[in-house]
Amino acid sequence: MPISVDKMDQTTSAENVFTRRLGLPFAPVILAPLAGVSDHPFRRACARHGADLTYVEMISATALLFESRRTFDMLKRHESESILGVQITGKTADEVGRAVGILDKMPFDTIDINMGCPVNKVVKTGCGSGILKDPKRVYETTKLARESTGKPLSVKIRLGWDRDNVTWPEVLDAAEMGGADWITIHGRLRSDDYGAAVNLDAVAELKRKAKIPVIGNGNIFSPGDVMYMRERTGVDGVMVSRGALGNPWVFNTIKNGETPVTIDEWEQLALEHLAWQQEEYGDEGSGAVCMRKHLLWYAKGWPAAKRLREAISHTGKLSDCANLVREFAAEQRKAGVSVRSTVWPMDLENRFQWDPKYDMDRALDRGVGDDGLNPPV
Ligand SMILES: Cc1cc2nc3c(=O)[nH]c(=O)nc-3n(C[C@H](O)[C@H](O)[C@H](O)COP(=O)(O)O)c2cc1C
Repeated sequence: MPISVDKMDQTTSAENVFTRRLGLPFAPVILAPLAGVSDHPFRRACARHGADLTYVEMISATALLFESRRTFDMLKRHESESILGVQITGKTADEVGRAVGILDKMPFDTIDINMGCPVNKVVKTGCGSGILKDPKRVYETTKLARESTGKPLSVKIRLGWDRDNVTWPEVLDAAEMGGADWITIHGRLRSDDYGAAVNLDAVAELKRKAKIPVIGNGNIFSPGDVMYMRERTGVDGVMVSRGALGNPWVFNTIKNGETPVTIDEWEQLALEHLAWQQEEYGDEGSGAVCMRKHLLWYAKGWPAAKRLREAISHTGKLSDCANLVREFAAEQRKAGVSVRSTVWPMDLENRFQWDPKYDMDRALDRGVGDDGLNPPV
């Protein structure tokens, strides 16, 4: 039920918003919205292994307002999900406000506005990090969203557009004035690629200045990364992104210290993820194609996985993938390999020859762009 800003509970402590309103533990560990990745089978895998809050991948306000079928499919919440957030991006404040009004009536516990996506096709229409150069639009967008929902509302930003436009102080003020309950900061600029260090000094400054809780994001792969970020910046919780790809165990690892995953646990989760995927999308088609990348990520970190990776790339059926997983697990046991790390290396792109920007770009072509009803956001 929408409420007006002046009637809102103005208490903005982390305890109020995370613990009292959302029922999250102290210092929550959150799975990021991940375009082309965070559908409900993946979210279930992460929640099972300790993610305190998960999100649907980024949704286009334009597509939602056009009532795109594909977008509504992406918004499905599985009955096993006890808590779920959704993220929206839009070209104008009005569009986001109206889209948030629709999301408010759907079964989501919290709504985030994406103000950080760096992908060209998103940014050129003014969505994602395109807004970072325009704090006034940040204010108007947050305010209209605030007026459309009484649910906890957040914004996810980067530090700024580029070195000449480091706008986080103005963007933070605008989000606070607009009525955001918390802010998630990815401590890089839009112009940075993943090789750039996360600027923890700037995140710390943002945290000092913020009147609302702050979630830290960027290069969170291990318990040590979380400890370091919290000590250096004082953030109220963290959001995990690439660290969870093929590695849903990372959440419990962050909370309880590193516990390697055994080949039995690995096989069980990969098979469960495949079964959930099959249940949702059927044995062939887009669900099988989408699952390929998850399996390629699951295969990382095990020795002699080349044959598995090649076979996955040529498989069109989830049931065949399940057989490949079983065979691979049997081979590992036979070779005496029993565990792998649940912490990805920080330089995982180099180590695994993977380009996350390319991946995000392709995901947005398929997902957010949508049905030909509207141009990709
Ligand atoms: C494949 C992929 C998809 C992403 N999709 C989204 C998205 O839909 N919404 C969002 O806010 N961020 C998205 N991001 C950005 C991440 O949430 C995160 O801000 C960024 O990867 C930095 O965190 P990391 O260094 O821990 O990966 C995506 C990142 C990747 C790699």
